[in-house]
Amino acid sequence: MSTSDGAKGHAAIAAAWTQLKALPQPKLADLFAADPDRPASLTRRIAWPVEPGSAGEAGMRIDFSKTHLNDDALTAFEALAEAAGFDAAREALFGGGIINVTEGRAATHGALRGSGTPAQVDEAEALLTRMSLLVEAIHEGALGEIKHCIAIGIGGSALGPALAIDALTRDLALVDVHVVSNIDGLALEQAFRACDPETTLIAVASKTFTTIETMTNAESALKWLAENGVDDPGGRVIALTASPEKAVEWGVDETRVLPFIESVGGRYSLFSSIGFPVALAIGMEEFRAMLAGAKAVDDHFRAEEGRANAPLLAAFADQYYTRLRGCQTRAVFAYDERLALLPDYLQQLEMESNGKSVKTDGSPVDGPTAAITWGGVGTDAQHAVFQLLHQGTHLIPVDFLVSIGPGDQLDPAHHRILLMNCLAQGAALMAGKPADDPARAYPGDRPSTTFLIDDCDAAALGALIAFHEHRTFANAVLMGINPFDQFGVELGKAIAKQIESGEGEFDASTRALLAAAGLG
Ligand code: F6P
Repeated sequence: MSTSDGAKGHAAIAAAWTQLKALPQPKLADLFAADPDRPASLTRRIAWPVEPGSAGEAGMRIDFSKTHLNDDALTAFEALAEAAGFDAAREALFGGGIINVTEGRAATHGALRGSGTPAQVDEAEALLTRMSLLVEAIHEGALGEIKHCIAIGIGGSALGPALAIDALTRDLALVDVHVVSNIDGLALEQAFRACDPETTLIAVASKTFTTIETMTNAESALKWLAENGVDDPGGRVIALTASPEKAVEWGVDETRVLPFIESVGGRYSLFSSIGFPVALAIGMEEFRAMLAGAKAVDDHFRAEEGRANAPLLAAFADQYYTRLRGCQTRAVFAYDERLALLPDYLQQLEMESNGKSVKTDGSPVDGPTAAITWGGVGTDAQHAVFQLLHQGTHLIPVDFLVSIGPGDQLDPAHHRILLMNCLAQGAALMAGKPADDPARAYPGDRPSTTFLIDDCDAAALGALIAFHEHRTFANAVLMGINPFDQFGVELGKAIAKQIESGEGEFDASTRALLAAAGLG
């Protein structure tokens, strides 16, 4: 882009924001009154085949009609997306462009499920085949009887596997996997208690293969195997990494290193070899179903324009609430035990990606960036935090997720009550209720988006993950920031190292705390 193109782009972005800020802020009730077709015009459906090659489809519908977006706002957001270069950025994402500019890398997580350049897709497929051969060999007993796996990793090397395993092994796990992330030894000890060392595999997941928590936990896991009579503990280790040479240096046999590509970011890596523990637990067929669900969302995200594009539309709503309505948080409530870890997963995806203060050109951002993502599970959360959503002073846009098909085998009443409660909450937040007694009045006009999933299976989980990856990316493009670096996590790590080496100079408070903790 030439300097004059750049200046024109900045001017167009500023003009779009000026227009957005000047728009009246309508009430939800008025939006529904003015447009009887609103639920249909603001609902999107993304579908995928029930089985590979089958004509039957499953999918999810996403109802944005209970947000404050209207035609004027959507038109202005579409102008913003155009001014921000959304089309070119999306093309660069899937075309292997260097969009992680601060690290000089592409972001090729799409290629893991077949959405990328042919060369990237071939490379990803070759690595997936390598992983599937190892998974199948382990299932067939090539490493002896394997009943358990302790999967060690942290951040992006743990949150995705933990979510997928928790979501997809409720009925059956081919291998019992325990994801351990924290350096607090209590976490690893808990996994040890649940596993028999004789039949336990250790999967060490780390993009860099240097992360102190992961490497310390991995050493302790090997020691545990050795102390419990396993002859060749090293033979039980599988490394999942973008730094295969470091894994080999650390002592993992090359044949048990499953590499992935450097341009796949940690928090975008579930579909790479980081997903090995998931594949071990659910089998390759189900793992590939997860990829297929993600691919369906990629296809939608690549093909649809403007407001028709569901992840982009979600980003319009996110920008509307953070930048025009001053919302500092967004809450996510999964009315499904299987998605209990989704808020944790989304916290890293959204906050590590878009919790930034500068744009890609290094200039300060023009407003707040990522909202703080938080949430929980319904109906539990209704009895804990929903008071604040309904009557508190904060305006909090809420995402509800619920599956039409039940996950349980109990009396259908369970699922019916779950589903009814989920849908009731969105209605209540929007409608509110006047009352003579102010303590009993609900202001209403509170926004929500509902994800209604046909069935919460592997494909749906893949679709939800890809949806949120693209939503995060679309938000970043609209704000002009790079979602693919995470320099903000480095300083604390460096200071911890200084403390360890005894070389750092610290403020008076930290010196006193170190002394009191026996570290000074
Ligand atoms: O500290 C943050 C982070 O770099 C995350 O981005 C990443 O997912 C996590 O640490 C783990 O890193 P690694 O996979 O290299 O061990």
